Formats: sequence, structure tokens, C-alpha cells
Amino acid sequence: MRGTFILYLLSAALGASAGLTSSNLQTYVDVLALDSAFNPIKESYWTGYPHHRRTPFAVSPDGKSAYIAYLDSSETDVHIQQLDPTTFKATGTTVTVPGGKEAGGLVAHNDGFALLTNEAMPSGTTNAPPSDTPVPVLYRYTDGKQTWKTWLGGPGVHAADGLSASPDLNGDLVYSESEGLYGAYFVVTDYTGDASGHFGDSIQYVTNAGELDTITGASSSWGCSHNTGIAFEAADQAPFASICAEDQGAIWLNTKGQGMMNDGVKISNENTTNGGSGEPMGGMSGSYSALARFADTTKYIFAWVSRGAIDVTENTWMGDGYTHVNNRTNGRNVAISLFTDKYTKVGAQATSVVGTEDGDSQVNWITQGSNDCSNAHAATFGTSSALVTWEEISNPICDYIAMGCRGQFAGSFFQEVSSDGSKVGDAFSSTDVYVAGDMVTMSDGRICWPYVSMEWDLSQAVGFGTAATYQKVSFACMSTGESTNSTTTASATTTSATSTKNTATAETSAAETTAAETTAADTTAAIVEPTATAKTTTVPAEQAVQTVTTFTTQARQTSKPNTVVATPSSVASAQAIPTGSAQDTLDFIRAVFRFLVGSN
Ligand SMILES: *[C@@H]1O[C@H](CO)[C@@H](O)[C@H](O)[C@H]1NC(C)=O
Ligand SMILES: *[C@@H]1O[C@H](CO)[C@@H](O)[C@H](O)[C@H]1NC(C)=O
Ligand SMILES: *[C@@H]1O[C@H](CO)[C@@H](O)[C@H](O)[C@H]1NC(C)=O
Repeated sequence: MRGTFILYLLSAALGASAGLTSSNLQTYVDVLALDSAFNPIKESYWTGYPHHRRTPFAVSPDGKSAYIAYLDSSETDVHIQQLDPTTFKATGTTVTVPGGKEAGGLVAHNDGFALLTNEAMPSGTTNAPPSDTPVPVLYRYTDGKQTWKTWLGGPGVHAADGLSASPDLNGDLVYSESEGLYGAYFVVTDYTGDASGHFGDSIQYVTNAGELDTITGASSSWGCSHNTGIAFEAADQAPFASICAEDQGAIWLNTKGQGMMNDGVKISNENTTNGGSGEPMGGMSGSYSALARFADTTKYIFAWVSRGAIDVTENTWMGDGYTHVNNRTNGRNVAISLFTDKYTKVGAQATSVVGTEDGDSQVNWITQGSNDCSNAHAATFGTSSALVTWEEISNPICDYIAMGCRGQFAGSFFQEVSSDGSKVGDAFSSTDVYVAGDMVTMSDGRICWPYVSMEWDLSQAVGFGTAATYQKVSFACMSTGESTNSTTTASATTTSATSTKNTATAETSAAETTAAETTAADTTAAIVEPTATAKTTTVPAEQAVQTVTTFTTQARQTSKPNTVVATPSSVASAQAIPTGSAQDTLDFIRAVFRFLVGSN
């Protein structure tokens, strides 16, 4: 008896110090057949570099139903496919939400699901945003039938603060079982009011009955200027745990206040330029599984990527107490932060002391190399350990300040981290498994997520290579390997999954060929342009490049301070306007970029 106990302790200790290896990773390659084609690549903001297009994935509380949501390759209509949470094979019938422009977040229930998407309002809607700009909306489906649909922006939603739309959601949907409450956190642009034409973010709550619930101290019509990344996780009560990356120099735990003011908790100093802050939460299509709660606790873990921070100076536009920093490194590294509850960071906040040399001394780095890291995510195995994942590029070329990089893909990395923030063993990598959708803790304790089995090229912008669509989704699952029987099971399953792959690869190639033919047209049609400037750009290529330079310069000049910011609400609306010019610049440059690609 005692011998068994000691053996158990030994194996637990060995398991813990060894960390994860490839034998902890099970793959189910091309296991889920989709009814419709899906484009797995999303072009990133500003750089046009490829990101994984997110496929939200969710499992019901009883562990019996699972769903993924994906955007049709036409870039309109979101499909929700039910799947078996054990085999990952399709089950039930696909539900299509017509008009949906982004699979923005998914919650699974025992009797159905809820989907966060954005769509144009019906024509003739009074006070709808101009040019059919999509508006965020939450759908609830029960047993395959729509139960309700609730707009989270547009006419009538926080009208006094200005009406908002969401050309890109780049956010997330979560649900509190104990509260019976949905929370959605997403990027908005206002089309009436003080912040008209400028970008920020919004947090909205919806009850089980589908009623928009405006909760004081939790709901927010405009929080972080040019939100460049969202991390959101449910709590037992509103406000839910929220983190934003803004365009002024910081990442905030903003559960309290919902904004970018220093009544929030400053997790990190980040170098920012022109509305970018290094895509800390994955940039376009990346704002999911960045903040995860340890089971049966109030604790959370947050993972992001950062270039570090040196030389803290005053942010004179924001005023006293707000800072700018330079970046320490060329490429980005992976960092984590832990919270004892939704309001409280473990360890010191990032410094706001002007003149400080090391602006990142509080950061718990998971990597510290010269590779560029991106697409960081975190999920918890249970109460005491978490999985942190990211991708790396070797010899990165980082053409644009505070944006992503390009270069040779060097693999997806998987690191176990204990709930005290220490690394458990080393990371291992895989070159054919990626994270492209929510990382879900399954009822058997594994963490599983969807991805598309494909070549992953991070060396160039989207549009120069061959784009393809796919009708198969793969799943990967990580176990901690601490239980004696799970390793055996894992390797056995890996073998069968590998043999499935050979068959599937042939099918995928056929799909790629067909899809490639439609690419050129899709690329142009697909992109939603929120501003008039972007839409009217049809200048010859050479002239266009020149115009970009001028426009960028102007935008930088406009970003000068008007007055020192005094209150959260002034930043929330009017004070955000100068940086709005930078947003317009981004849209303009994206339009020009597309013009160049289109004429290529
Ligand atoms: C960001 O870092 C660059 C150097 O890489 C620097 O020129 C720029 O001023 C920094 N941005 C801010 C807002 O301080
Ligand atoms: C800062 O980051 C930019 C890209 O954002 C990069 O070009 C520059 O080399 C970095 N600076 C340092 C000191 O590594
Ligand atoms: C591992 O063993 C436990 C207890 O014997 C069992 O309940 C569980 O299903 C097993 N797990 C796997 C993955 O076989």
C-alpha cells in the first residue's frame, strides 16, 4: 500500500518535471468533414501577413455536444457544425446563420449553442450604419432552431454614447453558467456621436432570455482606443474578466472600469505605433483562448506576445501617469501573467515611472529567444496547470514597427505551466499542428482545439502565395500525461490518426486546386472597408505608394495631444479621435495594398 503510494508520488513528480512531449499530443487529422468550404487564412491588419482564421470551438457543460463555427469561403454566412466530442466527426445537421461576416465566438449548451457574429442590418433599418457595415449580433439556437437574435450594436444600443458597428469583431463570447449570462467583448467603430469614425471596443451582456442587459460597472460602449487585442473569460458574476491591448502603450486587466485608464491593472508596457501594439493577442482573428480560468478557483492565466519594454517616457497625449516605451527586441517573445481573481494580478504591475530603463521587469517570460513568436494561447488542464502554445519564425524580418513579422515558420510550441507561473519541463514543437480555434478543456481533462492540416507559410503577405479553401477540419488534443493510462491511449490514437492523414492529404490537394482558381476574385471582394477613404482608392500603383507615405505622415502629425486627459469618458470618446486618423491610415494602406495585389 505504502509502496504504491510512493510510486504514485514518484510518477507524479517525474511526470511534473518532465513536462509535455510529443507523446502527449494526439491528432485527428482531417476528421471533421464540413458541408461548405472554408478559407483558413485571414490577412492581418496593416501588414497583410497570414493569420489562422479562427474557427470557434465549444463543448457543452454535460460534455455531450460540441460545435465549431466557420465562415463560408464566400466570406458571408457562418456555418455551425455539430460534432462528436469523442471522435470529432460531424454529427447532426449544419446550421447556417445567413449574412454572418465573422465566426466571432461560440458557446455550447446542452441543448444548442450561441454564436457571436456581425452582419449588415436589414435594408431600410432606421439609423443603421452606412454602407451596410456589419453590426455585432448574438444568436441563440436550441435544438437546431433559432430561439432569439439580439443586436449588440446599431440603432438603440447605447444611443446616448454614440451608435456602433463592427466591420471586424476580433473579440470573443463567453457565458457564465452560474449567472446565466452571456458576455461579448468586441471591436467597434462608431457612426454617430463624439467617436464617430473612430475605433474602440465594447462589452455587452445578454440574458438567457436574449435580453440585452446593460449592467453598471460591467457593460461598456467604448473602452480601449483601437483595441488591438481582446482577452475575455467568464466569471461567476459580471463584470467578466477582461483584458485589452490599446494603441497608447499598455495592456490592461480592465475587469474594473472596462477601459484603458490606470484604475485598471497595467499588465504590460508595449511599444505602439499607428494603432498597433505587436498583435499581443494574435491580431486579426486571434482574440480567443488568451485568458483562461483554472477550474474550481478564481484564478486566471493570460498569455500574450511582446517585444519587451525599455526607456519609459511620458505619454504626453494621455497625460500624467501614462507612458510610452521603446521595444527591447526585434521579434516577439511569449509572456504569461497570473491573476488570483478577475481584478488582481499576481506580482507587480508594469511600471508607469517615467525614466525607468527596464519597463518589462514584471514580465514572466516563457520564451526569451531571437525567434519571433505569435499566435499565443492558453488553456487550463484543471486546477493546477495550464497549456501555453505559440508559433515561431526563425530569423524574423519585422518590416513594420509594432506589427507582426515574416520569415521561416519554425513550428508550433507547447509548454506546460504550473498555476504558480513556473514552467513544467521544456516546450516541444510540431510543424504540422497549429492552433486555429478555441482551446477547450474536455470532460476527460485533455485540452483540444481545431486547426486545418495544411502547409503553413509565414514568409510573405497573403495574396502573393496560393490561397486555398478546405472542407476538412483537424483536431489536436493535449493531455498532461500524468495519468498512467493516458500515454498508452495517446500513442495508440496517434498511430491511427497518422494513417488517416495519408488518405486525407490526397483529398485536400484536390480541394486546393479547385479553390485556387477562385482566389483572385475572392481576395478583392472579401474585405470589408469601414471608411470612405479606403473605398474610393483607385489610384495607379506608383502614385498610391507615394500617397501612403504622405498620408501616414499626416496621421502621425494629427496624433498630437490636444488637452491632457482628465476623465475616463473623455478618453473614451473625443480624445480617441486623433488616433482615429491612424486607423483611417491603416484602412487606406490596406486598400492600397489590395489594389497592388489585385493588379499583380
Ligand atoms: C516604438 O518603438 C520605436 C522604435 O522601435 C520608436 O521609434 C517609437 O517612438 C516607439 N513608439 C512609442 C509610442 O514610443
Ligand atoms: C523594435 O521593433 C521593431 C519592429 O517593431 C524592429 O524593427 C526593431 O529592430 C526593434 N528594435 C530593437 C532594439 O530590437
Ligand atoms: C484511465 O483510467 C481511468 C480509471 O481506470 C478511466 O476511468 C479512464 O477512462 C482511463 N482513461 C483513458 C483515456 O483510457
